[in-house]
Amino acid sequence: MHSQTKPKTEPAAALDGLMELSRARVESALDRWLPPADAEPRDLHRAMRYAALAGGKYVRPLLVYATGHAFGVTPERLDGAACAVELIHAYSLVHDDLPAMDNDLLRRGKPSCHVAFGEAPAILTGDALQALAFHILAADPAPGVPPAQRLRMIDTLAHAGGSFGMAGGQAIDLAAVGRSLELEALEDMHTRKTGALIRASVLMGALAAGDLPEETLAALGEYARCIGLTFQIRDDVLDAEGDTTTLGKTSGSDRDNNKPTYATLLGVDAAKHLAEELHREAVEHLEGLGAAADLLRQISAYIIRRIH
Ligand code: IPE
Ligand code: IPE
Ligand code: MG
Ligand code: MG
Ligand code: MG
Repeated sequence: MHSQTKPKTEPAAALDGLMELSRARVESALDRWLPPADAEPRDLHRAMRYAALAGGKYVRPLLVYATGHAFGVTPERLDGAACAVELIHAYSLVHDDLPAMDNDLLRRGKPSCHVAFGEAPAILTGDALQALAFHILAADPAPGVPPAQRLRMIDTLAHAGGSFGMAGGQAIDLAAVGRSLELEALEDMHTRKTGALIRASVLMGALAAGDLPEETLAALGEYARCIGLTFQIRDDVLDAEGDTTTLGKTSGSDRDNNKPTYATLLGVDAAKHLAEELHREAVEHLEGLGAAADLLRQISAYIIRRIH
């Protein structure tokens, strides 16, 4: 549709502003929730802070805030969910980089957690980040999210992080090393390993609104399914054609690890084309929400063009 215009590599201005705001909010909330680095056991607490405050893009918190914003939820009511999903994500990356998994030495432009702190401490760092995520959802003092909705948020995140979501997707990923997958199986793996937490981010933002109709939650869930899959397709493309400095992680890692990816199965151009299609589908699912969902539309557009 915009074939004559130069593809954007940076988010649109309104989204840019929200990204900065949400980064600042979630970093300061995480800083408050994470144990101080000088509390015992110090190395574990230092490693937790290293992994969670390492300068990620904070896309999942952004989705929590943008979805909540679409329904008039105040940011204060969203901080807990934003922190919780980011902590599960941060833990997943710490474990993902371990020698037994992707064996990656670089994350967000710095040594991976296990390189900086050691392998066993990195395993425990992931464990502790995961537990902290659920503590925050249960104990967040921010008023306004009714208990029934809070329980549903906890359940949503637990399901998304577990064996039918991220952890299950990672298991499928490891079992697929050196094999080629059918497109359907690859989509299933990506939808679980990356899509599930992205979907949970959107749903938790919506659940914080209190009493949305189930059809609205279902439409948001479909939007999120599309952008979650797209997020990992873009990650595969960037692994194939990005450079290590821009990515902040070693490019070509999937190839070196013999991982089946969208880039290897379809080729980079067809993978990008599919991402465009999924972006259009994602936006279609937001039709009923009108202008309130503009930021969600912009996030979908950003996901297919992001450069790291
Ligand atoms: C990387 O996620 C791993 C995937 C699930 C694709 P991000 O690209 O969101 O990583 P950070 O948090 O910004 O570093
Ligand atoms: C990771 O996928 C998905 C997770 C659940 C962490 P990748 O292994 O492709 O993520 P990167 O490329 O290392 O960030
Ligand atoms: Mg991996
Ligand atoms: Mg990896
Ligand atoms: Mg990757």
